[in-house]
Amino acid sequence: MTFTPRAAWADTPQPVRAALARALGATIAGHTDLHGGMSPGPAAGLRLADGRQVFVKAVSADVREHNHKMIRQESEILDILPASVPAPRRLATIEHGPWIALATTWAAGTTPPAWTDAAIAAVAGACRTASAHRAPGALPPVAKRIFHFDGWDRLLDTGAADDWETANAGPAAEVSAGWEQWTAGDALVHRDIRLDNTAVGERATLLDWAYAAAGAPWIDLAQLAADVVATGHALGPAAATDRAYRLLRTLPPEAPRFVVGLAGMWRIRAVMTPETVLPYISAWRKARTVALRPLVIRLIAALQGCR
Ligand SMILES: Nc1ncnc2c1ncn2[C@@H]1O[C@H](COP(=O)(O)OP(=O)(O)O)[C@@H](O)[C@H]1O
Ligand SMILES: [Mg+2]
Repeated sequence: MTFTPRAAWADTPQPVRAALARALGATIAGHTDLHGGMSPGPAAGLRLADGRQVFVKAVSADVREHNHKMIRQESEILDILPASVPAPRRLATIEHGPWIALATTWAAGTTPPAWTDAAIAAVAGACRTASAHRAPGALPPVAKRIFHFDGWDRLLDTGAADDWETANAGPAAEVSAGWEQWTAGDALVHRDIRLDNTAVGERATLLDWAYAAAGAPWIDLAQLAADVVATGHALGPAAATDRAYRLLRTLPPEAPRFVVGLAGMWRIRAVMTPETVLPYISAWRKARTVALRPLVIRLIAALQGCR
């Protein structure tokens, strides 16, 4: 499902496009708008006059300050990632008035509409390659890149919306407690693994590095498992839950606890401050929590069985 009505690259102010071309050292000969991701700004593939194809995303702080900040943050992060991390390379970042634009190398492959077993295998491989690296020293601990992970606790205070939540919010809060401690580590963590943050070919490239951090080495694989269910598998919801469960079984017990925490995070964020620029984001978060329910129940039962 595509939620984002992203702006078109052609609507980016001309001085922004000119500044980017100057920074790239070549005229922009053509472009193709891209529609993945959750930001309101344009994202596009650019064909340069010297034959290169590059990726660009841009946003004006007047549209959404947060995304402007994230593009600046991602630019800094891309520069400190070791070359062996499966990530695009930064080519240029320009700022012009309220605008910021980031150009990177083009990542081979495609971003499929739903997970397939081949895509899961390729992205899991990329996550393992990334997390085998020690996080660069400038990256913060992952706890600083995790927001509202106390979603189930908050829900207990604000009140469950239905019988499922009445039955499960308590145990879910219990298994996700203490996450600040058990997510800590010194591995490189992407922290926002979602199908639309990957380019999948024979191998996968992880995209959109704004939230990278230092943490436990299983975090990206756990988030991959959650996203297989939340975004969906080409073979349907039962296959998605099955694939996620199988992946989580290869990981330490903190990984399923993390997935339960993510479900609570999406649940509570769906009802927090209404988003005016991205009004569809609440529905997107709500849909993710609901999709995760069968997996969450299974994980809680398995975790409680371990005690
Ligand atoms: N380097 C790249 N090469 C090719 N396509 C890319 C690249 N980076 C991102 N994309 C595509 O553009 C979309 C938006 O990019 P992303 O960096 O995720 O932006 P956002 O921060 O808005 O989520 C992605 O979903 C992906 O399909
Ligand atoms: Mg993205």
